[in-house]
Amino acid sequence: MTDIIKKLEVSCDASDEELKSLIDSESCDTALYEAADRVRRANYGTDVYMRGLIEFTSYCKNDCFYCGLRRSNRSAVRYRLEKSDILGCARAGYGLGFRTFVLQGGEDMHYTDDMICDIVSALKAEFPECAVTLSIGEKSRESYQSYYDAGADRYLLRHETADNAHYSKLHPDTLSAENRKRCLYDLKEIGYQVGAGFMVGSPYQTVNELIADLRFMQKLEPDMIGIGPFIPHRDTPFRDMPAGTLGLTLRMLAITRLMFPYALIPATTALGTISPDGRERGLRAGANVIMPNLSPADVRKYYELYNNKICSGDEAAESVLIMGRRIKDCGYTPVSARGDVRRGGGEPPLAPRGVS
Ligand code: 5AD
Repeated sequence: MTDIIKKLEVSCDASDEELKSLIDSESCDTALYEAADRVRRANYGTDVYMRGLIEFTSYCKNDCFYCGLRRSNRSAVRYRLEKSDILGCARAGYGLGFRTFVLQGGEDMHYTDDMICDIVSALKAEFPECAVTLSIGEKSRESYQSYYDAGADRYLLRHETADNAHYSKLHPDTLSAENRKRCLYDLKEIGYQVGAGFMVGSPYQTVNELIADLRFMQKLEPDMIGIGPFIPHRDTPFRDMPAGTLGLTLRMLAITRLMFPYALIPATTALGTISPDGRERGLRAGANVIMPNLSPADVRKYYELYNNKICSGDEAAESVLIMGRRIKDCGYTPVSARGDVRRGGGEPPLAPRGVS
């Protein structure tokens, strides 16, 4: 097993069989995390990039079987933030040091492309040195182009699972893995820094699907990779399905770091939800991004993708201070800079858009 870890560390690749044995085995976790940490330090030092997350709408037109915001969930409380609320969150976040704002929401048709562009350009006008990341789901190429032209820098769209058959067990017929992938390639071609990713332990997932996820990402070469455990939500068809485990999620994070040394990889809220020190353990297994929540405290609990989500009652300022301390306590350095992707090992980041 140590040979496989060494091979991954040196060449960023291994055969399906080798990956399978690494994913299945719990015996070499420490060596795997240590290798991932070496690779992360070689590329990004001890930096942990902070992103301010603004969950601006809990409405969604989709009906994904795993997600608490699914359209059929009549118990969900729905809210939308106005442009002025979003700018207010960003102002507070800027004061706390954030230089990346992530606008995330369900697929809410209330927000037209013009409205999204207006919000993006207002953010870029007020905070020109900040990166704006969108995470608002599947759109047409033209829509993606218009947000980019308005100034959006990055886009997060987890592929969820790269396997078509598995995708259709997690989603209604109206959604397809094919369209999801089309979106990701469109975003890349337009020029966004692109984030893909998947849940670990989602219903019906086996090691074969996890390998398909890694192989898909080798083709896509995403800049950001979001990986977190599946956690059931009581008002979804998957209410009785088991959550993804800490061990498997950490192994997938570490393998991902070894295969994608340049990637920005968050220690996710879902990881912190299944274990009190989950995010710290994620950082030690190769993650280098944390996304504290900047959403207004009064709506935060309603953005409920899964049950028992952490930090849903905290004040933004408070959770940022606590998170900064926790990052330092495990030997890393919280960094408020934009934190653009670094390709080609240790080279300075590409000049951000609009900055020459
Ligand atoms: N458990 C864990 N992650 C979830 N997501 C949605 N529902 C759940 C859940 N029940 C993830 C999806 C989505 C991201 C915003 O949240 O991967 O892309």
